[in-house]
Amino acid sequence: MVKIEEYKELIDSKSKMITPRVALTLSLVLFSLTIVPALYSLIANPTLPLLISSSETDGPFPSDHMHPSVRILPPVDSPIPAPLNYTRHRKSSYHSPPVTTSTSRTQIRDDEQRCDLFKGEWIPNEESPYYNNATCWAIQEHQNCMKFGRPDTGFMRWRWKPDGCDLPIFDPNEFLEMARGKSMGFVGDSISRNQVQSLLCLLSRVEYPEDISSSPDTAFKVWNYTSYNFTLHVMWSPYLVKTTKADPTDPECNLFNLYLDEYDTKWTSQINQLDYLVISSGHWFYRPVIFYENETISGCQYCALPNTTQLPLYYGYRKALRTSLRAILENFKGLAVLRSFSPQHFEGGPWDKGGDCVRTRPYRRNETIPEGADLKIHDIQLEEFRAAEEEMKKKGLRLRLMDTTQAMLLRPDGHPGRYGHLQTAEVSLRNDCIHWCLPGPIDSWNDILLQMMKTEK
Ligand SMILES: *[C@@H]1O[C@H](CO)[C@@H](O)[C@H](O)[C@H]1NC(C)=O
Ligand SMILES: *[C@@H]1O[C@H](CO)[C@@H](O)[C@H](O)[C@H]1NC(C)=O
Ligand SMILES: *[C@@H]1O[C@H](CO)[C@@H](O)[C@H](O)[C@H]1NC(C)=O
Ligand SMILES: *[C@@H]1O[C@H](CO)[C@@H](O)[C@H](O)[C@H]1NC(C)=O
Ligand SMILES: *[C@@H]1O[C@H](CO)[C@@H](O)[C@H](O)[C@H]1NC(C)=O
Ligand SMILES: *[C@@H]1O[C@H](CO)[C@@H](O)[C@H](O)[C@H]1NC(C)=O
Ligand SMILES: *[C@@H]1O[C@H](CO)[C@@H](O)[C@H](O)[C@H]1NC(C)=O
Repeated sequence: MVKIEEYKELIDSKSKMITPRVALTLSLVLFSLTIVPALYSLIANPTLPLLISSSETDGPFPSDHMHPSVRILPPVDSPIPAPLNYTRHRKSSYHSPPVTTSTSRTQIRDDEQRCDLFKGEWIPNEESPYYNNATCWAIQEHQNCMKFGRPDTGFMRWRWKPDGCDLPIFDPNEFLEMARGKSMGFVGDSISRNQVQSLLCLLSRVEYPEDISSSPDTAFKVWNYTSYNFTLHVMWSPYLVKTTKADPTDPECNLFNLYLDEYDTKWTSQINQLDYLVISSGHWFYRPVIFYENETISGCQYCALPNTTQLPLYYGYRKALRTSLRAILENFKGLAVLRSFSPQHFEGGPWDKGGDCVRTRPYRRNETIPEGADLKIHDIQLEEFRAAEEEMKKKGLRLRLMDTTQAMLLRPDGHPGRYGHLQTAEVSLRNDCIHWCLPGPIDSWNDILLQMMKTEK
């Protein structure tokens, strides 16, 4: 068994003389062991290193009255894995099931056009999954649940069935035809990236893209589906607004300054060229942060700064979301989609106290209710969405809500849980009940995304 400290040393000692091969090996080792999820970030994104320090577990956190997920770690921020054996235009050799099937009509009938896609149940789908870890390189290690020995496969065999219509299963050819000559961007955290990886895998039945990123920064990637001249942009911005480390000299600093009224120009400056934009956020707001407005500190959350108002996460969340929707209003002309909060499913304790997610079936909708904190984030999303939608409509712009919270609430079975790493690995986030296995229920987000694109055409 390998101790976390040894890997920290490994990183420290190797980082100065890293060769691509060593880097690859090293990152594979890191991925496969899923050590402290935050260590990924040292490799992935040097500007946002987040380490779990003892102060985080024992620190100044009011814990008793807090929602269990309040102390949730940020979703890990490792890069999209490099294509290990990537050949340009390589198509999957895997014999995928036919794309169009009896259960996957490609069109929702006209009379069903206005059906609410977000109210429904999960129903069995014997035709899924549509890819696997052998056919798709984009499955990140900690979401490669089968690799790490997940014994049940039933969680892959469901599809989302809205009450008023059938939702067609994702058709990669149809998607790429619609996206021909266009560009799509995803802004958010590692759950946003989880959806991108699902999209890459679903599309891999037709084509793999070429990496045309302008920099080696894995937090910002651009891919080109060259046969379709379709570009896919991934933009890392877990807080959506301008963010800096509270102590830039401390690589282990896990306290952030959030400038609630300032754009994160790393993405806002790029969206004017895009046709589609999918934006989302949530889990990172549960962490300690200092809020800035008008360039001065307006408060903080779990930060223990003297003479600073303690503000709830909802305060920061609402303002950050409002600011980023304003950035879209001002800089974006295409179809913008706000994807709602992705619920976690720790049971039997919080993430750091033995909580786990071991269910193997979806809930029916009468079997679960949203929990307090997540529900409140969702409410804020709805409210800010409605306000922004109104503004955008006045300017002839389109903002849509992808309200997948309810659907995902019903999928406690869809997370990696303990199968996001080798069982022998010494990890901090032992049971990942935040991200989603691939293949898995998050693939439905792309069914829905394509449907929304069709409806908006
Ligand atoms: C990469 O793929 C090619 C063709 O599928 C195969 O011949 C080769 O052995 C693979 N290389 C590795 C390192 O897996
Ligand atoms: C894929 O999953 C299988 C188990 O279904 C596992 O044995 C294999 O190592 C995994 N392969 C990769 C490349 O992740
Ligand atoms: C590719 O698409 C872009 C718009 O995204 C367009 O400007 C460009 O002319 C297209 N190139 C080709 C070869 O069609
Ligand atoms: C994507 O690939 C196509 C085909 O090679 C090319 O015409 C187009 O310019 C590329 N797009 C970008 C943004 O590089
Ligand atoms: C920031 O400044 C504006 C005007 O300069 C003011 O209306 C607003 O209340 C200030 N916000 C805060 C949080 O101080
Ligand atoms: C905090 O406020 C008190 C009372 O206003 C003041 O005496 C003290 O110096 C302040 N502390 C800091 C660190 O600003
Ligand atoms: C939920 O609904 C199903 C089907 O309508 C029913 O069989 C089941 O008993 C209900 N469960 C609960 C907890 O109400």
